[in-house]
Amino acid sequence: MLKLGVNIDHTATLREARYKNRGFGEPDPIEIALLCEQAGAHGITAHLREDRRHIQDRDVFSLREKIRTRLNLEMANVPEIVQLALNLKPDNVCIVPERRQEVTTEGGLDVKGQEKELTPTVKQLRQAGIIVSLFIAPEPEQIEASARIGAEFIELHTGAFAETRDNPAEMEAELQRLIEAASLAHKLGLKVNAGHGINYTNIKQIYRVPHLVELNIGHSIISRAVNIGIKCAVREMLELIKHYPFKE
Ligand code: PXP
Repeated sequence: MLKLGVNIDHTATLREARYKNRGFGEPDPIEIALLCEQAGAHGITAHLREDRRHIQDRDVFSLREKIRTRLNLEMANVPEIVQLALNLKPDNVCIVPERRQEVTTEGGLDVKGQEKELTPTVKQLRQAGIIVSLFIAPEPEQIEASARIGAEFIELHTGAFAETRDNPAEMEAELQRLIEAASLAHKLGLKVNAGHGINYTNIKQIYRVPHLVELNIGHSIISRAVNIGIKCAVREMLELIKHYPFKE
């Protein structure tokens, strides 16, 4: 069965918009993660960025302690964060490229160009018992490099596919790239995850990509939660407002 990891970063984005540097605030990503688990999510994904723009260190340590499924830490290959991962011991690490100016992870990791830097990190993390995945574009040379440096998983970047939206020809071309990439990865002994931009509509196309173990989905799920939860939240506030004791 295809598994779902829910990326909770954007709940922290919302919290930080109001409570930056305060050490508390709502929504609480840990509470949200526990609700995702109650709903049946197979894992929780969080990206601890170097600039700590959304998820904070305290969040990942609290997630490690409280969640009962698997913790997948997305991170850049930089010494500070690698050390933190070794201390945290998430079940999985997904190494992603990171640029400070980007809104979200924009491209795949250049494994081929960074084999020298990535090899010792993958080794160190694996020796600590952490499963390592590399977030890459569906390109044969990146897949081959990922197999060479000893990663157990790749996560195929589905962003280019998701961006094709209403253009069926482009969507088909991007799907073919994903299908071929997943097949090649499988042939080379890699396990395959996928993520970025997957939503309630384009998920149906993803069914055509073979060998997938898990999808990591964030933005569309958090957006949908706002949509389907807003009526209830407004009703609850109206109920409270009813008890205002003064007349005009
Ligand atoms: N997988 C990886 C490696 C990511 O960087 C992201 C975005 O943070 C996702 C999955 C989830 O993408 P989205 O929020 O578009 O579902």
